[in-house]
Amino acid sequence: MQIFAAAKKDLLPSDAARKIFGLIKNELGLVEAEFEKQVRSNIQVVNYLGDYLRSSGGKRVRPALLILAARSVSDRGASDNVIRLATVMEMLHTATLVHDDIIDNADLRRNKPSVNARFGNQAAVLMGDWLYMTAFETSLRERSLEILDILTRLTRKMTEGEIIQLTTIGNVEITRDDYFDILKRKTAYLMSGCCEIGAILGGASGESQAGLREYGMNLGIAFQLADDILDITSSAESIGKAAGADLLEGKITLPLLLLIEREPAVKQTLREIMIAGEYPEGSREYLLERIGHYGLIDETRSVAIEYASASRKNLEVLPKNEYRYALDAIPGYVIDRNR
Ligand code: IPE
Ligand code: IPE
Ligand code: MG
Ligand code: MG
Repeated sequence: MQIFAAAKKDLLPSDAARKIFGLIKNELGLVEAEFEKQVRSNIQVVNYLGDYLRSSGGKRVRPALLILAARSVSDRGASDNVIRLATVMEMLHTATLVHDDIIDNADLRRNKPSVNARFGNQAAVLMGDWLYMTAFETSLRERSLEILDILTRLTRKMTEGEIIQLTTIGNVEITRDDYFDILKRKTAYLMSGCCEIGAILGGASGESQAGLREYGMNLGIAFQLADDILDITSSAESIGKAAGADLLEGKITLPLLLLIEREPAVKQTLREIMIAGEYPEGSREYLLERIGHYGLIDETRSVAIEYASASRKNLEVLPKNEYRYALDAIPGYVIDRNR
């Protein structure tokens, strides 16, 4: 079934990922080493779980953002504190994933059993807490209240996002405003924080710092929209986590919101699926067919492209260099990714 029309290639360099991640390959290697060091603990279980999480990989988008932001505004190479803070952002991200998988009762993450599935909810709650606090402890070494302010605010926003989402579970009356509010909190503040902290560490001007903060915000929105599209269009093998899961978890994402706008009667089907917690025979295909009929994946993708374009515009205040060009390629990569 054709639910994706031809991809819009205007802002999507085909070798985007290589261009972005290749440029900072060394720095990302140092982040891996720092992550490994940070999760080393005298407590054997913590050690084990920390390494289970670190070695499961992930795209490492957040550390890449911080490093590129720092380097785009500074002539100096990535200093130790850039590597350290990039690692902190990945640890915070990992902590949110560990807790998110408990909340969503998800079994699969990065093609491996999630921590909760493999080691139980108790261990997962505590490991998430441990990662949060270790990340904060590491960030304190900067002795920067400005950075700490950003980190505490974004962590609170993320938690609020999950809490607000909890109150909307199963609700087919959710509005676009509710949806975008949750999406910003869950994903965009963290990406914005990565870019802003990178800017601060690179000694950016006020204007560049604001540009990078906004860039991260718009990029984060596009990123979560793409995640919500992949949940509908992709397979578990490809994204390394359950597909079609958002609806089963009681979450109405933008493609379904748009479908409800077109066909309010579909609410009943959606309610039934959410209550069952599984797709009754033929219901998934039915929804995909209706989504395809109205071209709602493309419509969602167009919204994501708008945010991606806005984020690229935010970069115009930055000095022109290869790091800025790599940042410029990330929105296209984010929208076009398949995992
Ligand atoms: C997953 O983030 C959670 C969302 C914000 C959608 P990523 O897609 O960056 O996950 P990893 O780190 O690559 O596994
Ligand atoms: C992103 O939301 C959650 C976080 C910010 C942790 P999702 O619930 O869509 O994330 P995935 O799809 O499980 O990775
Ligand atoms: Mg989830
Ligand atoms: Mg998701």
